[in-house]
Amino acid sequence: MIIFNASFLAVVGLILTGWYIWKCISSPLRVLPGPKTSLFMSLILKSIAPNEVSFASLEGIKEIYGSGGSGYDKTEFYDLFKAYGRSLSRGSQSAQEDSLNDVPSLLVEVWTYSSVGTIGEASQGPDANGEEDLHDYAFDGVTHQLFHPYGSDSLRNAQHEDIMKQVAFDDSLQNRLVQYYNPPLHRIIGQALSIFAKPRETPLADELVLSATQQTDSAQFTLLNRMQDKVYNMDHMDMAAECLDHMAAGIDTTGDGLCFLMWEISQPRSLHVQRRLQEELMANPDVAFDKLPYLDAVVSEGLRCFPAIPMSLPRYVPRGGRTIDGFFIPEHTIVSCQAYSTHRIDQTAFPQPDLFNPERWFEEEGALERKRLFFAFASGGRGCVGKHLALAEMKILLRDVYSKFTTLPDGSMTDEDMEMSDQLISSQPRGKKCLLRFEPIKMDAYS
Ligand code: HEM
Repeated sequence: MIIFNASFLAVVGLILTGWYIWKCISSPLRVLPGPKTSLFMSLILKSIAPNEVSFASLEGIKEIYGSGGSGYDKTEFYDLFKAYGRSLSRGSQSAQEDSLNDVPSLLVEVWTYSSVGTIGEASQGPDANGEEDLHDYAFDGVTHQLFHPYGSDSLRNAQHEDIMKQVAFDDSLQNRLVQYYNPPLHRIIGQALSIFAKPRETPLADELVLSATQQTDSAQFTLLNRMQDKVYNMDHMDMAAECLDHMAAGIDTTGDGLCFLMWEISQPRSLHVQRRLQEELMANPDVAFDKLPYLDAVVSEGLRCFPAIPMSLPRYVPRGGRTIDGFFIPEHTIVSCQAYSTHRIDQTAFPQPDLFNPERWFEEEGALERKRLFFAFASGGRGCVGKHLALAEMKILLRDVYSKFTTLPDGSMTDEDMEMSDQLISSQPRGKKCLLRFEPIKMDAYS
């Protein structure tokens, strides 16, 4: 048959290759700055591809993520995170907002107070790993907010910690990402990949979420309680999917955000930051955690330098195409911004961008620009719904730790251990551990 004829196959191959090259070099995106290779291929780990453009500018952020329904939808990339086969429900958006914008500080205070001593103690033992403890802390925080009193207590309970590990240390994403970016390649190497990156299975987390979401007496401030309002018309699996999604979104992000930040302020080069923070905390023992300007600047600077989600957040250009930062981009092109770049590229707003310097947040010059370029939680209607909870968790933990302790890096740690390692969506310390020494503050040093 002609289709098995080698010359015929060669001609078809040539035509297809020619057509592909023509399609790539005639792409309207060819005029954009960027590596020329991106005209031809999608580099799996980078957000540059024949149909994908990344912006690192305020104009890009405003246009793509602008609130009020900018029309730029999230791409199928987010299907990778579907829980129980359901996407995050937009119908329940106001339930999420109700619950998360109004973090009941009283509960957070009580729960955190008892956790902080545990973080200090846990971080001293022979098996101590600050990174895991901070994940535990974040896990307990988010499950409280989801379904208190049915939340976890993983800082003290090893079985609960196992649930956290199952959700947070999930290596199936790499496998699913190859499937998303390159289905033909995945068909060839998928079997081999699954040896290293097992399909996602979280039976312990499922058990927790499925049973907690069946309870009808969770605290009034919880997301579960709000979602159970008939107005949202959500069935049990809708609520479970929503809660599992929040749980997964709220562990590594807050945990690793805190981890990188505490590591940085424990370095000799940043001990002046720790000291100024301690001075603020000691001078204001009765001031609420969200009314302390230096603490706020330290957290902002931590999230600027070490954004927990540094990667591009992909969206589709709406029908008809749009002009973004002066470039016309055709409809259905994937466009994005990424926190790692927007936090560094404008050196008027962020002079010496690689320097960890909380003081920059007090400079009047460029204050508005800095705020607008701050993209750690993304922005607009599909930005982080957990932002207020995350900030409360971070500030309360830092306040309680640095009111009592000075932290120093453990001698066994290396700089390489704490390099930001890209986990494709979030970042984590390359060595997967963070060992800090907690030394009680010497009060006479402050008198
Ligand atoms: C420092 C901590 C955190 C950081 C840096 C962070 C960052 C982000 C970012 C950048 C996004 C946007 C993704 C996109 O637009 O494509 C996002 C979405 C999201 N975050 Fe967070 N997050 C944090 C903590 C939390 C917590 C504690 C929760 C749990 C309550 C949470 C729940 C979510 C959810 C549910 C979404 C998806 C929203 C949607 O699709 O509409 N996050 N987060």
